[in-house]
Amino acid sequence: MVSLSPSLKAQLSTPLKIGSVEVNSRVLQSPLSGVTDLVFRRLVRRYAPESMMYTEMVHASGLRYAKALPKIMEVDPNERPISIQLFDCRPDFLAEAAQKAVEEGADTVDINMGCPVNKITKNGGGSSLLRQPETAEAIVRAVVQAVCVPVTVKTRIGWSDGEINILEFAKRMEDAGAQMITIHGRTRAQGYNGNAQWEWIGRVKEILSIPVIANGDIFCVEAAVNCLKQTGADGVMCSRGTLGYPFLVGEIDYFLKTGQLLTPPTPEERLECAREHLEALWQYKGDRGIRQSRKHMTWYTKGFPGAAELRGQLAVIETVEQGVELIEQAIAALP
Ligand SMILES: Cc1cc2nc3c(=O)[nH]c(=O)nc-3n(C[C@H](O)[C@H](O)[C@H](O)COP(=O)(O)O)c2cc1C
Repeated sequence: MVSLSPSLKAQLSTPLKIGSVEVNSRVLQSPLSGVTDLVFRRLVRRYAPESMMYTEMVHASGLRYAKALPKIMEVDPNERPISIQLFDCRPDFLAEAAQKAVEEGADTVDINMGCPVNKITKNGGGSSLLRQPETAEAIVRAVVQAVCVPVTVKTRIGWSDGEINILEFAKRMEDAGAQMITIHGRTRAQGYNGNAQWEWIGRVKEILSIPVIANGDIFCVEAAVNCLKQTGADGVMCSRGTLGYPFLVGEIDYFLKTGQLLTPPTPEERLECAREHLEALWQYKGDRGIRQSRKHMTWYTKGFPGAAELRGQLAVIETVEQGVELIEQAIAALP
C-alpha cells in the first residue's frame, strides 16, 4: 500500500518554485524527442493541468539558420507552464535560441545536458557536456544573461560509472545561475539500461538550494513516492512511463495532492485516447503525423485481449481512416 507521510505530503503540497515561476504540481512531463509535441502535451495536460511540460529538444544551431520556427518548438498560447528545451554546445547560439524560445512563450528554458545519442554527443551537446563542465557553465551563464525567464538544466549523473561527477557538476550549474536541475539517475554509458541510481539524486539534493527533480524509472505512483522518499527531491519527472499512457503524470499528481489513487483507465478508455491521439496528429501534421502515430499506436496497444494483433495492424497504417476503423473494431470486440 503506497502512502505519504504527513511531513512529505505537507512539503509537496507547496508550489514548486523555479526562480520566478511557481508551478502547482510536483510532477513533470519530460521532454521526449519524437513524442512530446503539442498534440501529446495536450493529452497529458488534460489529466495534469498544472504540471510543467517540455517540448522536444530543439537544436540551437539549426534554429539560427532556419527560416521559420520548427514545428517542434511550437507552443499553444494556452498551455502553461511550458518549457522549451534546447541543445547545442555553443553558448552564443544557445543564448540566441533561448530568446526565440521566450518569444514563442516559454515559461522556462531548459538546456539538454543528458542526451546520450552519438550524433549529439560527438558535436559537443547533450551528455558530453558532463565532460566539459566549463562549457556547460559558460552556456548557463550566457543563457541566463540573454533571457528574463528561469533557465534550467536536465542532465545525467555522469558519463560512465568511473566518471560520476554529478555532485560537482550540479553545484557548478547552480552557481552559474540555473534555477532548477533535473537529474536522470543513469550515466551516459548506461543509456536507458539498468536501474536509475536515485541515491545520487539524493546526494545532490543535500548540497543544492535550487529545486532538484528526480528522473528515471518513474513508471507508476508507487515508484514516484519511493523516489521522493528516497531522494528528498522537489519533484519527479515521468518519461518512458508516459509512452502510450498520457495518464501517468496526472495519476501521480492526483496522488501527491490527495493521497488517493485514481482508478486506472479501462482498455476502452485507452483505445479512445489512442484514437484521439491519432486523429489529432493527422490534423496537426498530415501524412507525417500518420507515420509518427504508428509508434504511439503500438505503445497504446498493450494489456487487453487482441492487443498484439491490433499492434501489428496499427504499426503499418497509411491513413487516419484505417487506424480509426481498426481501433473502433478493437473497442467493439473488447470483453
Ligand atoms: C524516445 C525518447 C526520447 C527522449 N528525448 C529526450 C529529449 O528530447 N530531451 C531530454 O532531455 N531527454 C530525452 N529523453 C530522456 C528522458 O527524458 C528521460 O530522461 C529518460 O527516459 C529517463 O527516464 P525514464 O527511465 O523514466 O524513461 C528521451 C527518452 C526517450 C526514451
